[in-house]
Amino acid sequence: MKPLNEYNQRILLQKDEIDAAVRSMGQRILEDYADEPLTLIGCLKGSFIFMADLVRAIHRPLHIDFIEVSSYGNDLSSSGNVRVIKDFKHPVQDSHVLIVEDIVDTGLTFDFLFEHIWLKKPRSLEIAALLVRNSVDLEERSVKYHGFTIGDEYVVGYGLDAAGLYRNLNHVAVFEK
Ligand code: IMP
Repeated sequence: MKPLNEYNQRILLQKDEIDAAVRSMGQRILEDYADEPLTLIGCLKGSFIFMADLVRAIHRPLHIDFIEVSSYGNDLSSSGNVRVIKDFKHPVQDSHVLIVEDIVDTGLTFDFLFEHIWLKKPRSLEIAALLVRNSVDLEERSVKYHGFTIGDEYVVGYGLDAAGLYRNLNHVAVFEK
Protein backbone atom coordinates (compact mmCIF):
# COMPACT_ATOMS: atom_id res chain seq x y z
CA MET A 1 0.00 0.00 0.00
CA LYS A 2 1.51 3.30 -1.10
CA PRO A 3 1.53 6.18 1.40
CA LEU A 4 -0.81 9.15 1.20
CA ASN A 5 0.47 12.63 0.44
CA GLU A 6 -0.39 15.89 2.18
CA TYR A 7 -3.71 16.10 0.31
CA ASN A 8 -4.73 12.54 1.34
CA GLN A 9 -4.16 11.30 -2.18
CA ARG A 10 -2.68 7.88 -2.87
CA ILE A 11 0.85 8.14 -4.18
CA LEU A 12 1.18 6.11 -7.37
CA LEU A 13 4.78 6.94 -8.31
CA GLN A 14 7.37 8.22 -5.88
CA LYS A 15 9.87 10.86 -6.96
CA ASP A 16 12.81 8.40 -6.89
CA GLU A 17 10.96 5.92 -9.19
CA ILE A 18 10.21 8.76 -11.59
CA ASP A 19 13.82 10.01 -11.47
CA ALA A 20 15.16 6.55 -12.28
CA ALA A 21 12.76 6.15 -15.24
CA VAL A 22 13.60 9.61 -16.60
CA ARG A 23 17.35 8.97 -16.27
CA SER A 24 17.14 5.70 -18.17
CA MET A 25 14.93 7.28 -20.85
CA GLY A 26 17.52 10.06 -21.24
CA GLN A 27 20.28 7.50 -21.64
CA ARG A 28 18.33 5.60 -24.32
CA ILE A 29 17.62 8.82 -26.22
CA LEU A 30 21.31 9.76 -26.03
CA GLU A 31 22.29 6.39 -27.52
CA ASP A 32 19.52 6.29 -30.15
CA TYR A 33 20.17 9.71 -31.68
CA ALA A 34 23.99 9.66 -31.44
CA ASP A 35 25.11 13.11 -32.62
CA GLU A 36 22.30 13.73 -35.10
CA PRO A 37 20.45 17.06 -34.68
CA LEU A 38 17.68 16.66 -32.11
CA THR A 39 14.83 18.93 -31.03
CA LEU A 40 12.54 18.19 -28.09
CA ILE A 41 9.10 19.80 -28.23
CA GLY A 42 7.33 19.74 -24.87
CA CYS A 43 3.55 19.78 -24.80
CA LEU A 44 2.41 22.34 -22.23
CA LYS A 45 1.45 22.58 -19.62
CA GLY A 46 1.55 19.02 -18.30
CA SER A 47 5.04 18.13 -19.56
CA PHE A 48 6.95 21.04 -18.06
CA ILE A 49 8.53 19.20 -15.10
CA PHE A 50 9.13 15.98 -17.05
CA MET A 51 10.70 18.01 -19.87
CA ALA A 52 12.97 19.90 -17.47
CA ASP A 53 14.24 16.64 -15.96
CA LEU A 54 14.43 14.73 -19.25
CA VAL A 55 16.54 17.29 -21.11
CA ARG A 56 19.02 17.29 -18.21
CA ALA A 57 19.28 13.52 -18.49
CA ILE A 58 20.31 13.75 -22.17
CA HIS A 59 23.94 14.79 -21.99
CA ARG A 60 24.42 16.32 -25.44
CA PRO A 61 23.46 19.58 -27.24
CA LEU A 62 19.81 19.74 -28.31
CA HIS A 63 17.13 22.27 -29.13
CA ILE A 64 14.16 22.76 -26.82
CA ASP A 65 10.81 24.23 -27.76
CA PHE A 66 7.24 24.07 -26.48
CA ILE A 67 3.77 23.88 -27.90
CA GLU A 68 0.67 24.49 -25.83
CA VAL A 69 -2.51 22.69 -26.78
CA SER A 70 -5.83 22.38 -25.07
CA SER A 71 -8.29 19.54 -25.09
CA TYR A 72 -9.44 19.38 -21.48
CA GLY A 73 -10.32 22.94 -20.52
CA ASN A 74 -10.97 22.85 -16.79
CA ASP A 75 -12.74 19.54 -16.99
CA LEU A 76 -11.30 16.14 -16.01
CA SER A 77 -12.23 14.49 -19.29
CA SER A 78 -11.09 15.19 -22.83
CA SER A 79 -13.32 17.45 -24.90
CA GLY A 80 -12.12 15.54 -27.98
CA ASN A 81 -11.18 18.78 -29.63
CA VAL A 82 -7.48 19.66 -29.65
CA ARG A 83 -6.40 23.19 -30.52
CA VAL A 84 -3.10 25.05 -30.49
CA ILE A 85 -2.82 27.82 -27.91
CA LYS A 86 0.89 28.52 -28.45
CA ASP A 87 2.79 27.04 -31.38
CA PHE A 88 6.45 25.98 -31.37
CA LYS A 89 8.88 28.20 -33.31
CA HIS A 90 12.06 26.26 -33.89
CA PRO A 91 12.56 25.22 -37.56
CA VAL A 92 12.78 21.42 -37.54
CA GLN A 93 13.43 20.56 -41.22
CA ASP A 94 16.98 19.45 -40.50
CA SER A 95 16.33 17.88 -37.13
CA HIS A 96 14.93 14.76 -35.55
CA VAL A 97 12.02 15.69 -33.31
CA LEU A 98 10.89 14.12 -30.09
CA ILE A 99 7.51 15.24 -28.75
CA VAL A 100 7.43 15.22 -24.95
CA GLU A 101 4.02 14.53 -23.38
CA ASP A 102 3.00 14.02 -19.77
CA ILE A 103 0.44 11.28 -20.49
CA VAL A 104 -1.03 9.58 -23.54
CA ASP A 105 -4.63 9.12 -22.46
CA THR A 106 -7.11 8.78 -25.36
CA GLY A 107 -4.29 9.50 -27.83
CA LEU A 108 -6.09 12.45 -29.42
CA THR A 109 -3.35 14.90 -28.46
CA PHE A 110 -0.76 12.42 -29.74
CA ASP A 111 -2.53 12.20 -33.13
CA PHE A 112 -2.92 15.95 -33.35
CA LEU A 113 0.71 16.72 -32.45
CA PHE A 114 1.98 14.12 -34.89
CA GLU A 115 0.04 15.59 -37.80
CA HIS A 116 0.77 19.18 -36.83
CA ILE A 117 4.55 18.73 -36.44
CA TRP A 118 4.91 16.33 -39.37
CA LEU A 119 3.76 19.14 -41.69
CA LYS A 120 6.99 20.99 -40.76
CA LYS A 121 8.99 18.09 -42.28
CA PRO A 122 11.32 16.97 -39.49
CA ARG A 123 13.87 14.22 -40.27
CA SER A 124 11.96 11.92 -37.95
CA LEU A 125 9.18 12.28 -35.39
CA GLU A 126 8.71 10.23 -32.22
CA ILE A 127 7.06 10.59 -28.82
CA ALA A 128 8.40 10.37 -25.29
CA ALA A 129 5.65 10.21 -22.65
CA LEU A 130 6.05 9.90 -18.92
CA LEU A 131 2.78 7.92 -18.67
CA VAL A 132 0.72 5.85 -21.08
CA ARG A 133 -2.71 4.42 -20.21
CA ASN A 134 -2.91 0.67 -20.57
CA SER A 135 -5.96 1.21 -22.83
CA VAL A 136 -3.74 2.79 -25.52
CA ASP A 137 -3.11 0.51 -28.48
CA LEU A 138 0.65 0.78 -28.90
CA GLU A 139 0.48 -0.86 -32.33
CA GLU A 140 -1.72 1.96 -33.54
CA ARG A 141 0.06 4.73 -31.63
CA SER A 142 3.71 3.91 -31.25
CA VAL A 143 5.13 5.71 -28.22
CA LYS A 144 8.88 5.23 -28.64
CA TYR A 145 9.77 6.07 -25.04
CA HIS A 146 7.51 5.85 -22.02
CA GLY A 147 8.15 5.79 -18.32
CA PHE A 148 5.14 3.99 -16.85
CA THR A 149 1.89 2.37 -17.92
CA ILE A 150 -1.10 3.21 -15.71
CA GLY A 151 -4.78 2.23 -15.53
CA ASP A 152 -7.73 4.56 -15.86
CA GLU A 153 -7.22 6.46 -12.60
CA TYR A 154 -6.99 10.26 -12.89
CA VAL A 155 -3.52 11.33 -11.73
CA VAL A 156 -1.94 14.58 -10.60
CA GLY A 157 1.54 15.82 -9.78
CA TYR A 158 4.93 16.06 -11.51
CA GLY A 159 3.31 18.52 -13.95
CA LEU A 160 -0.14 16.93 -14.24
CA ASP A 161 -3.07 18.89 -12.89
CA ALA A 162 -6.67 18.69 -11.76
CA ALA A 163 -8.38 21.96 -12.75
CA GLY A 164 -4.99 23.71 -12.72
CA LEU A 165 -3.88 22.48 -9.30
CA TYR A 166 -1.32 19.95 -7.95
CA ARG A 167 1.19 20.30 -10.81
CA ASN A 168 3.86 21.13 -8.22
CA LEU A 169 3.76 17.78 -6.40
CA ASN A 170 7.08 15.88 -6.60
CA HIS A 171 5.35 12.56 -7.13
CA VAL A 172 2.36 11.27 -9.14
CA ALA A 173 -0.77 10.67 -7.05
CA VAL A 174 -4.23 9.35 -7.81
CA PHE A 175 -6.68 12.22 -7.66
CA GLU A 176 -9.80 11.35 -5.70
CA LYS A 177 -12.61 13.65 -6.76
P1 IMP B 1 -5.35 12.68 -24.70
O1 IMP B 1 -5.44 13.61 -25.85
O2 IMP B 1 -6.68 12.11 -24.31
O3 IMP B 1 -4.30 11.59 -24.88
O4 IMP B 1 -4.98 13.52 -23.44
C1 IMP B 1 -3.74 14.04 -23.25
C2 IMP B 1 -3.76 15.16 -22.24
O5 IMP B 1 -4.85 15.06 -21.31
C3 IMP B 1 -2.53 15.05 -21.43
O6 IMP B 1 -1.46 15.73 -22.07
C4 IMP B 1 -2.95 15.65 -20.11
O7 IMP B 1 -2.72 17.04 -20.11
C5 IMP B 1 -4.44 15.38 -20.00
N1 IMP B 1 -4.70 14.23 -19.11
C6 IMP B 1 -5.15 13.01 -19.46
N2 IMP B 1 -5.26 12.20 -18.39
C7 IMP B 1 -4.87 12.94 -17.33
C8 IMP B 1 -4.74 12.65 -15.93
O8 IMP B 1 -4.99 11.55 -15.42
N3 IMP B 1 -4.32 13.68 -15.15
C9 IMP B 1 -4.02 14.92 -15.66
N4 IMP B 1 -4.11 15.22 -16.96
C10 IMP B 1 -4.52 14.23 -17.80
